[in-house]
Amino acid sequence: MQPKIAVLTAGGDCPGLNAALRAVIRRAHQRGFLAVGLRGGFAGLERLDVVDLDPAQASGLLPRGGSILGCSGADPFLRADGEARCIENAARLEAAGLIIIGGDHSMQVAEKAWRAGVPVVGVPKTIDNDVRGTEQTFGFDTAVAIATDAIDRLHTTAESHDRVMVLEVMGRRSGWIATFAGLAGGADAILIPEHPFDLTDLCRMIRRRQDLGKYFSILVVGEGATFQGEEAPVLGTKADGSLRLGGIGALLARRLEDASGIETRVTVLGHVQRGGSPVASDRILASRYGVHAVDLIESGRFGRMTAWQRGRMTDVPLAEAAGGARLVDPESYGIASVFFG
Ligand code: F6P
Repeated sequence: MQPKIAVLTAGGDCPGLNAALRAVIRRAHQRGFLAVGLRGGFAGLERLDVVDLDPAQASGLLPRGGSILGCSGADPFLRADGEARCIENAARLEAAGLIIIGGDHSMQVAEKAWRAGVPVVGVPKTIDNDVRGTEQTFGFDTAVAIATDAIDRLHTTAESHDRVMVLEVMGRRSGWIATFAGLAGGADAILIPEHPFDLTDLCRMIRRRQDLGKYFSILVVGEGATFQGEEAPVLGTKADGSLRLGGIGALLARRLEDASGIETRVTVLGHVQRGGSPVASDRILASRYGVHAVDLIESGRFGRMTAWQRGRMTDVPLAEAAGGARLVDPESYGIASVFFG
């Protein structure tokens, strides 16, 4: 019987998932494996919803957004019966290895499965770029490009109307998208979860700009950012038990307008950041990860996550990735803050 490699895409989608699947399919085929996919993330493992991924299906995947396997944040491992069924089904698959493409929560689940004896390899993805153990997740560069384009567009209208523009971007626990897009787009302030902010400071910065004859300001805020001493606004709870955030942009705009008297508008970029075709660098990173994941399985190196470190492809123990969010480093934020105000 031909050896098999199984793959699933867990958590929220991001640009580059299909490029990673294409790489898994192509490399698996090249190395003599049959590739199969589980539909709908871990839910697909729980109900053993399997599809064949033959090389013909890899055609056209490189530039395509979303995931042909479908994604879901469902975590059957939160229930004892769900966990047992997943482990049972993983054995039933009779695969040489299972590739789990996901964010840090999915890497935690992957780690549990690995400890329970499933031959697992993780691949990090998320627009948030907050998975530990790797310097970059695919999806991030595309989200930054989309958010930068939004800032460029907000600039011209802000300038025409002498307004303050607040742009809320994604990033639940870390401000990578806000920091990098804010730097690339020339934001006057970047507010991220790592640095709770103060309204008075912001009003002062806006007034200072006005004194210099700059009657508009652009503020980029990550959805998980907070006013000092407050929590980020919550919209609900998600299937994996994590909080659904959003609303800090509107809150900030309202308070800024009240405090400064300057007309302020808010734009919430939302899932536009996650949809559509990946930029070239995300296609390349996703392809590298997919190939490396198959190679790890072929060499029997399980319980590991593919990782990008110091300009090289490598891998780390899953446990390293499962230790919480990777925060924005002070150096990157420091560079971005040089251009504030
Ligand atoms: O984790 C990626 C992410 O895009 C976060 O930045 C955001 O909080 C979340 O997903 C939104 O998830 P959902 O699509 O479930 O609302």
